[in-house]
Amino acid sequence: MTKIAIITGGSRGIGRDTALQLARKGLDIIITYKSSEEEASEVVSVISEIGSKARAFQLDLGKPIGTFDVFISNVSEYLKKTYGEAKFDYLINNGGIGGHTSVAEASEEEFDLMVNVHFKGVYFLTQKLLPFINNKGGIVNISSGLTRRTFPNTSTYATVKGAVEVFTRVLAAELNEKKIRVNTVAPGAIQTDFNGGVTRDDPKMNQAVSSITALGRPGLPEDVGGVIAFLCTDNAYWINGQRLEVSGGMAL
Ligand SMILES: NC(=O)c1ccc[n+]([C@@H]2O[C@H](COP(=O)([O-])OP(=O)(O)OC[C@H]3O[C@@H](n4cnc5c(N)ncnc54)[C@H](OP(=O)(O)O)[C@@H]3O)[C@@H](O)[C@H]2O)c1
Repeated sequence: MTKIAIITGGSRGIGRDTALQLARKGLDIIITYKSSEEEASEVVSVISEIGSKARAFQLDLGKPIGTFDVFISNVSEYLKKTYGEAKFDYLINNGGIGGHTSVAEASEEEFDLMVNVHFKGVYFLTQKLLPFINNKGGIVNISSGLTRRTFPNTSTYATVKGAVEVFTRVLAAELNEKKIRVNTVAPGAIQTDFNGGVTRDDPKMNQAVSSITALGRPGLPEDVGGVIAFLCTDNAYWINGQRLEVSGGMAL
């Protein structure tokens, strides 16, 4: 039977590439976007050309209360209509935003946004989608290399990503009965629109990242998407509760 993956933040960057790589492996795809409806439609078209079914839904991880129920109801209705039952196989918690403020200057608003998008949103979206995940399915949570290597001005972002890594391990332990595997992928600096596209567009940042990366360059979305896609295969069945850093050997 065709497997189905839901990827949050699939309109751009790492999520987009993950969606395409999973479609090339024969999975059907549901992506979410926050505001880039056009980009999301383009991803759906490319996936259709690959030969898989795809659909995009709007979702704001920063507003977990109330809005998630509408999202879940839309997705389950789509699944029922398309496949006969509201079930899917893999959840990729990828959607997110960057943040760069010192502890001294961080506002409560910025703190709350980071917690909501990267932790509370991930936590409750996962909780609400759990009943729909098939046995032997999987969850991949996207964290960051910044939970291992510490830089100033990353406290709100790195701290919530750290929470996601602990969440991953607890969830893997709790989902043993259903044989659902839960893993973290922690990318290094990747050339996407993230943080205003700084890793891609700023030569100084590009050089700084290259100089501390064993493979000598920043990562590309396809360096990460392929690894996430691999985790959504039976070949990765024995990988569970792990944090996999995908950075070309950054700050070893
Ligand atoms: N790029 C890096 O260097 C890097 C490094 C480590 C970890 N990561 C992590 O990798 C993940 C993907 O990052 P990326 O580099 O691919 O970023 P990106 O190119 O900026 O794409 C971000 C994606 O997340 C979605 N998104 C943004 N805010 C959202 C919200 N409030 N609710 C739901 N979705 C939202 C965006 O939707 P719209 O298109 O509609 O805005 C977009 O699809 C993030 O979790 C990020 O923290 C990235």
